[in-house]
Amino acid sequence: MRIFVTGSTGFIGTAVVRELIDAGHQVLGLARSDAGAKSLVAAGANVKVHRGSLEDLESLRSGAAAADGVIHTAFIHDFNNYGPAAEADRRAIETLGDALAGSDRPLVVTSGTLLVQPKGALATEEDASNPNLPRKSEEVALALAARGVRASVLRLSPSVHGKGDHGFVPRLISIAREKGVSAYIGDGRNRWPAVHRLDAARLYRLMLEKGSGGASYHGVADEGIPTREIAEAIGRGLNLPVVSKSSEEAADHFGWIARFFGIDGPASSALTRQRLGWPPVQPGLIADLNAAHYFEHAADAVALHV
Ligand SMILES: NC(=O)c1ccc[n+]([C@@H]2O[C@H](COP(=O)([O-])OP(=O)(O)OC[C@H]3O[C@@H](n4cnc5c(N)ncnc54)[C@H](OP(=O)(O)O)[C@@H]3O)[C@@H](O)[C@H]2O)c1
Repeated sequence: MRIFVTGSTGFIGTAVVRELIDAGHQVLGLARSDAGAKSLVAAGANVKVHRGSLEDLESLRSGAAAADGVIHTAFIHDFNNYGPAAEADRRAIETLGDALAGSDRPLVVTSGTLLVQPKGALATEEDASNPNLPRKSEEVALALAARGVRASVLRLSPSVHGKGDHGFVPRLISIAREKGVSAYIGDGRNRWPAVHRLDAARLYRLMLEKGSGGASYHGVADEGIPTREIAEAIGRGLNLPVVSKSSEEAADHFGWIARFFGIDGPASSALTRQRLGWPPVQPGLIADLNAAHYFEHAADAVALHV
């Protein structure tokens, strides 16, 4: 199939592009810069560049119209200005959906397990997303299933880890370097799920190939790692003391990431594994943090614009 991939130059998108090509698909990758276009060209003959951006809705429409399916991973990661980023995402998904309406072609949209409102102890694929949050990727995507789009949602763990990670965990590493301590909030028993980038990329492909329209799937390998264990792994990696910060101290210590690092958000992927035949096979987050690559240089979290 020929797949239009937004965010094809990002941490997760580059792995998705590689996964698709290795499985025999062709990729049309969205690029908004010359550097992005160049990196896509370098990915091989089965990758074509589609110039455009999330703001240029016509570029999204034409990319989707030219493809047999779409994977949407682009997002403006400006956590200090989250409302407009979420709004751009909503408009982008609606535009992609308009282009695919009535065709039954697949559209895989990215969301997060921390955006779910769990009914039980673990968030499951059957739980609805939390309607009170600004990011509406899931609601907008699932509504497209009624318009003849095979739209599904991949809820990623808050840590999608692996070489090249510049997400939440590298941000925590930067803060630890800067403050001279690796911290967790309260007793640090609140849990974060995690998934390796390569396992996540395989899941995007499986959803594209055989996911059900209107379904949500969980990119979760570690169901819930106590955040204290994440702080301890960072402390080991940087040779820094590990300390607790009270919830009152957290905002000052961690900045914007405090509102995520304090969440207890364990999530299951049992239904995803069963429905799509997806066993995660890569190392878990703590094993990945115990490998040296997370601590090799200080250029952490560059892509989060913080
Ligand atoms: N990484 C994680 O741990 C994690 C966890 C949970 C959920 N997620 C979600 O997974 C998805 C992919 O994340 P990621 O880690 O791969 O992010 P990333 O490395 O920051 O990549 C973001 C991608 O979006 C593109 N992009 C940003 N603004 C754009 C715009 N205005 N127009 C067009 N393209 C734009 C970037 O293009 P450029 O290369 O040109 O900048 C890049 O290709 C996002 O929806 C993210 O919220 C990620």
